[in-house]
Amino acid sequence: MDRSVGLIGAGNMGEAMLRGLLASGTVPADRCWLTNKSNDERLARLAREWRVRTTRDKARLMSASQVVVLAVKPADMPGVLEEIAPHAEPRHLIVSVAAGVPLERIERHLGRVPAVRAMPNTSSAVGASATAICPGRWAGNGHLATAREVFAAIGRVVVVPEALFDAVTGLSGSGPAYVYLLAEAMVDAGLRAGLSRDVALALVSQTILGAGRMLAETDEDPAVLRSRVTSPGGTTMAGIRALEEGGFRAAVRHAVERAAERSRELRGAPAHPTG
Ligand SMILES: NC(=O)c1ccc[n+]([C@@H]2O[C@H](COP(=O)([O-])OP(=O)(O)OC[C@H]3O[C@@H](n4cnc5c(N)ncnc54)[C@H](OP(=O)(O)O)[C@@H]3O)[C@@H](O)[C@H]2O)c1
Repeated sequence: MDRSVGLIGAGNMGEAMLRGLLASGTVPADRCWLTNKSNDERLARLAREWRVRTTRDKARLMSASQVVVLAVKPADMPGVLEEIAPHAEPRHLIVSVAAGVPLERIERHLGRVPAVRAMPNTSSAVGASATAICPGRWAGNGHLATAREVFAAIGRVVVVPEALFDAVTGLSGSGPAYVYLLAEAMVDAGLRAGLSRDVALALVSQTILGAGRMLAETDEDPAVLRSRVTSPGGTTMAGIRALEEGGFRAAVRHAVERAAERSRELRGAPAHPTG
């Protein structure tokens, strides 16, 4: 990418994005600026490790960057938007990862500045995020393509209308935790069957990784992949039947719906018309 990137926020998400952008070669280190609020030690460590430029002067960061990523907690967004508003221009692309902060609020502070909202997930820490992005009023196809490039550096990217961001939050935002719960349950079952914790965990984590790679790399429908490994009267079929009898599908659907509903509640929105 031939643009300079400024990252405002150097926490979990800021660091994951920094690592992804540099490790993938999307942005060279000398065109990457980083800032946080007050954690000097962390900022210095990241600057040392990645040889990026750092500053606490938002005006400087804004003038040096074309793409500005806002990776601060939602509660810190009003303050940050106020700080950058005097320096935001139509030449910028503002990219926000703050959960639950609508584009309209960003645009109200910054005016006619191209903005893209994104919802990555915690697997960004290992470069395997599932990220949804959505363009704001003033963002064109070129801006969306740039945002896509930024998030491709930390995983897979889809474009989704902003009205579906609560659903994305319930599905892929909270999704890693659902898979961890499945992993916990599988490890427990392995222990009950006599395996050691180490062995059970190794088998379960590799099983989830392998199944995830099959889904992502073959692009096959999950039902097709499942039926391919489920022969009639076999062991897998017996296990699947037990899951179905236990209400597995309904529980997963309910989890996604409840998490999406909670996302709406947290941003003070009315209940979903269909929910
Ligand atoms: N973590 C994830 O996997 C994930 C997934 C999806 C979405 N998100 C979103 O990503 C955002 C960041 O989450 P996080 O987990 O990275 O939080 P975090 O680890 O707490 O990091 C927040 C960062 O924001 C900085 N900050 C706060 N106020 C600032 C200001 N006025 N100017 C400059 N920097 C400021 C903090 O600096 P100091 O440390 O100096 O205070 C810190 O570096 C959140 O809005 C969250 O909703 C995160």
